[in-house]
Amino acid sequence: MAAGEIERHLMIVIGGTGDLMRRKLLPAMRRLTQEGRLRGKTIILASGRRATFDDGSYRDWAHEALEEAGLPPGAEDSGWCKECLHYESVGDQQPEDFERLKRRIEETEREHDLPGNRIFYMATPPGAFIHTVERLGEAGLSSGPGWTRVVIEKPFGDDLDSARELNERIHRHFSEQQIYRIDHYLGKETVQNLLTFRFANVLFDSVWNRDRIASVEITVAEELGVGERAGFYDSVGALRDMVQNHMTQLLTITAMEHPTQFEADAIRDEKVKVLRSLAPLDPSQAIFGQYAAGEVEGESVPGYLDEEGVAEGSQTESYVALRAYVQNWRWQGVPFVLRTGKRMPEKLTEIVINFRCPALALFQRHPEATVRANALVITLQPDEGFDLRFEVKAPRDPLRMVTQNLSFRYDEAFEELPDAYETLLVDIAEGDQTLFVRSDEVEEAWRLYTPLLVNRPLVHPYPAGTMGPPEAERILIPRGEACPI
Ligand code: BG6
Repeated sequence: MAAGEIERHLMIVIGGTGDLMRRKLLPAMRRLTQEGRLRGKTIILASGRRATFDDGSYRDWAHEALEEAGLPPGAEDSGWCKECLHYESVGDQQPEDFERLKRRIEETEREHDLPGNRIFYMATPPGAFIHTVERLGEAGLSSGPGWTRVVIEKPFGDDLDSARELNERIHRHFSEQQIYRIDHYLGKETVQNLLTFRFANVLFDSVWNRDRIASVEITVAEELGVGERAGFYDSVGALRDMVQNHMTQLLTITAMEHPTQFEADAIRDEKVKVLRSLAPLDPSQAIFGQYAAGEVEGESVPGYLDEEGVAEGSQTESYVALRAYVQNWRWQGVPFVLRTGKRMPEKLTEIVINFRCPALALFQRHPEATVRANALVITLQPDEGFDLRFEVKAPRDPLRMVTQNLSFRYDEAFEELPDAYETLLVDIAEGDQTLFVRSDEVEEAWRLYTPLLVNRPLVHPYPAGTMGPPEAERILIPRGEACPI
């Protein structure tokens, strides 16, 4: 969403030798530098436990990471790694380690003649966030000569109580205006476009309500299994990993009212109102599943329980389907179905808006005429675009309807879409919080899922390569059914 001027700053990445830095942050920084968007604006000070790294060996490590990502620093900008990357160990993360980090920050700022603007990016495992934030605060790093911002990755807590406690402890050191809670789905162009699509098109805006919409179905299907993350995932499950954050964000953006302005707090206020309007979830309206061995894209894959790192007999869900209801004037009675799973036949993220059937069955005297309700399919990945399904009359007699598509595809209209992290890094540098999750939002999202965390639905197996357990059918919305005549 970024639009303003970026001031020169230092980005301190705690966990700077980890997977997130290697796979996401460094490649995103490199692309942004190449495009000129952050060139000359950002100096990076990576920090990790490794005491053996210094600036030189860290730059070699970063070089390798960029090569792996297919972005080798070329001759024209080999200076990027040399000039912009530094490393300082925080060892065992004791108070003295953070005092040393503070001195190094000041030194690096002098060396690059920076004005003292700082971003602390927590790229650590979730269990280490709070310890790090507290050490930063105690070392006097929650404010500096310029502005100071802190970036926190998901998961933010693992239930309502832990999220509240995290918020409370972080707020002792940083104000909400300094905190950027990341949900990378919000950085995806297609997710941001949902806002524009809704609020810049009066055509859709006028039918976006219970009078015209029968149901909304949000699907995030993944082909991949838990793979190397099994150890982490087994203690988390799909509800915490995907539903509470990414899918809930998609729901709130789909259901929110018009913000008073296109600006961070006005937008987030409306999203929070949706969360507050959601009826407590009914566990009988939720189905959990777990993939068994099966075939994906013609290849045999093991079941969840056979993945390395998964506890014996684990009841962790890799699939969730549930019905939620937004109890307000706009949405009363309209089911919002959320469905996500790993090891499904293909990667697909979509929002399907199912419109109502025509009010009157006009075609009763034409036995071959079947009317299907209109649907708007918003595909967020991988084949980004929109499809509006509508009925047309097939030529000649007898009267017969055929469903046709009005289609828009991003790749036909625009160049390649940026990676979510590129968008989010620029927004952080600009101080735009629109695409970041506010403290009340994250707490409300946990509150919503508390009934399912306390009263966990049974876990049903489904073969890998299928769309989930058959038990979920009663929760899902049937596709393309004919309207009653
Ligand atoms: C992450 C989850 O937040 O999102 C992963 O932890 C999941 O389990 C990933 O695979 C999906 O993201 P995307 O952008 O590939 O849809």
